[in-house]
Amino acid sequence: MKKRILFLMPFVLLSVNRSLAQKLTIPIETAHNAVVLQVTAKNDLVQAYFGERLNTPDEYSQIKEVRTSDYTGLYQSAYTPSGSRNLLEPAISIQHADGNQSLDLRYVSHKVDKLSEDVTLTSVVLKDLVYKVVVTLYYKAYIKDDVVEQWSVIRHQEKGEITLQKFASANLNLSSKAYWLRQYHGDWAKEMRPEETQLTHGIKTLDSKLGTRANLFMPSMFMVSLNKPATEDEGKVMMAALEWSGNFRTDLELDPDDNLRVISGINNYASAYKLKPNVDFTTPAFVYTFSSKGKGVASRNLHNWARNYKLMNGKGDRLTLLNNWESTYFDFNEQKLFGLLKDTKALGVDLFLLDDGWFANKFPRNDDHAGLGDWEENRKKLPNGIASVAREADKEGVKFGIWIEPEMVNPKSALYSKHPDWVIKQPKRDEYYFRNQLVLDLTNPTVQDFVFKVVDSLFIKDPKLAYIKWDCNAVIYNAYSVHLKIQQSQLYVDYVRGLYTVLQRIRKKYPDVPMMLCSGGGGRVDYGALQYFTEFWPSDNTDPLERIYIQWEYSYFYPAITSSTHVTDWGKQSLKYRVDVAMMGKLGFDIVIAKLSPQDLQFAKDAVVNYNSVKSIIWHGDQYRLSDPQTDPVACVMYVDTIKASAVVFDYLVSNRYDAAPRSRMLLKGLDPAKKYTIREINVYPGKTGRFNGESIYSGDFLMKVGIDPEIDPSRSSVVLKIDETK
Ligand code: GLA
Repeated sequence: MKKRILFLMPFVLLSVNRSLAQKLTIPIETAHNAVVLQVTAKNDLVQAYFGERLNTPDEYSQIKEVRTSDYTGLYQSAYTPSGSRNLLEPAISIQHADGNQSLDLRYVSHKVDKLSEDVTLTSVVLKDLVYKVVVTLYYKAYIKDDVVEQWSVIRHQEKGEITLQKFASANLNLSSKAYWLRQYHGDWAKEMRPEETQLTHGIKTLDSKLGTRANLFMPSMFMVSLNKPATEDEGKVMMAALEWSGNFRTDLELDPDDNLRVISGINNYASAYKLKPNVDFTTPAFVYTFSSKGKGVASRNLHNWARNYKLMNGKGDRLTLLNNWESTYFDFNEQKLFGLLKDTKALGVDLFLLDDGWFANKFPRNDDHAGLGDWEENRKKLPNGIASVAREADKEGVKFGIWIEPEMVNPKSALYSKHPDWVIKQPKRDEYYFRNQLVLDLTNPTVQDFVFKVVDSLFIKDPKLAYIKWDCNAVIYNAYSVHLKIQQSQLYVDYVRGLYTVLQRIRKKYPDVPMMLCSGGGGRVDYGALQYFTEFWPSDNTDPLERIYIQWEYSYFYPAITSSTHVTDWGKQSLKYRVDVAMMGKLGFDIVIAKLSPQDLQFAKDAVVNYNSVKSIIWHGDQYRLSDPQTDPVACVMYVDTIKASAVVFDYLVSNRYDAAPRSRMLLKGLDPAKKYTIREINVYPGKTGRFNGESIYSGDFLMKVGIDPEIDPSRSSVVLKIDETK
């Protein structure tokens, strides 16, 4: 109702009555930071400040426009429109119903809603002066965690559809002498490779056009340090990501005034979107945090926010598991699985996860060429169905979970033969495959229903099903949807919306079942999806040395509880090294237990017991990085519980240069200086003696100022220390 009035009333009446020369200032504050919006004399909404908050909020109104060569009045725009005065990268670009392409958004009104003690929602309404287009900008501030989520809602009352050509979620402006971008690139088994460079004038774009498995080459996470690259404990840094599981685009534009404009949202590549009158187009949230004390604080902000507000069951428990992917691949039968259930029990982990290969009959899933889409048990491998494996798991006293890839189809499948129109492919072109498969058309509600039923039917087969690994191994080639007819440019956006619709439906019916977000490794890791998933699979690369680096970089953005870290046979390191690395997340195993030597088996069992005693510190505590494998020969990561009573420290030698390990003390972090602590080495291999036995007592002050030498050397290439308060 309110919105309708807004169109009918003359613009001036809606403007807030501002006292003469006083600029309207809208600060969005968190515990330590502020984004400050201002309304100029021409009613442009600009973002006047981004950084540490002021002690006295009244002073924000004194922020003056800097002397500028801005010809447009829009360089600092909080949401840059295009086709009118603008000369830089726009946040929004529209073709109106009459074909005109101009937009000029002016401030109308704003309000601040207090959603809880800790969360405020500031919304600012902007409106075009000529066309009936309204954009509302939303800033959701999580005060304690110093995190802001920002998005926009676009709506119009034109006579006919308008076309959204660009529709960013956020348009931020940073001001500094220099800007250092840390971005990530990769491919299968090479996730999260960082690059850090100083931004130069022009636009640096981070993006994806892959549709599904959208992060295969690049995720949307990035950080920008101001002045110089931030270190763990020093420097100003913004960390950010788009909460979207499809194509994204972030433009970082160093403008003629040397300010950095960050414009992020759904990638508009091949995605012009038709919008009917009086319908909201809501963009996904762009989430960011800012720290003036280095990357450590920024990452802990995101961890806390994710666990408190975003991640599915962020404060809950997780299940340790034994997975059969690398130990059997597609080659298993009921008897073999029964053996693995016994191994699960013997190892002491919570759950057995049955991976790919359990389904399809006409085109059996014996390798990755066939069967995807035909989600009934393969009668040869599982003559008595999943129910029988689930019953056996019950008898053994372990839980049972299963792998699915429900968005996909192999051309060799009954599903493909029956419903070729459910498949994303060009009608007049040759099919082109990624891992021998194609993507189902989730823009189509009938297909959404099918995907929902894949999950639903698992619970009919096994009502106690305790875990789902949801994979997504292919990108979208030949983007075309039979369902979308002439609206083909909506495929990339509507696909993701369709996926979220299915996930919402699943979560409504099965709110508690833990689900792993997998995409041939880390091809789909984002906070849009993690609202529905409890954890993600960072990479198929489980070589522990590689994982130290991969997990390190993910850990800037995602807390350890989200990261599935499994022990496999990748890499040349000892079992101890592999297990120690896998303990820095949510522990699992994917090895043949029967082939372990008696000592290795004993070590693994003891490690599971140790893990159970420290897992809540790792999952729910604060993470500190003590020694960076990118620059140091040793990687060292520490987790401290929230009351600073217990901590666990992981040290790994990552260099095999001669005598590489430093003979120096490691300064611990995050402890209470006034508390007394003991240190005990855990995960000691059978027959070896740990160097820390808990006898010495140290103050937190001592451990953080003088430190301790974990005594890393090639014979002790990984060391895990448990630190406990003593009274
Ligand atoms: C992907 C996953 C693996 C495994 C296989 C099964 O590659 O990342 O963990 O589940 O699929 O085909």
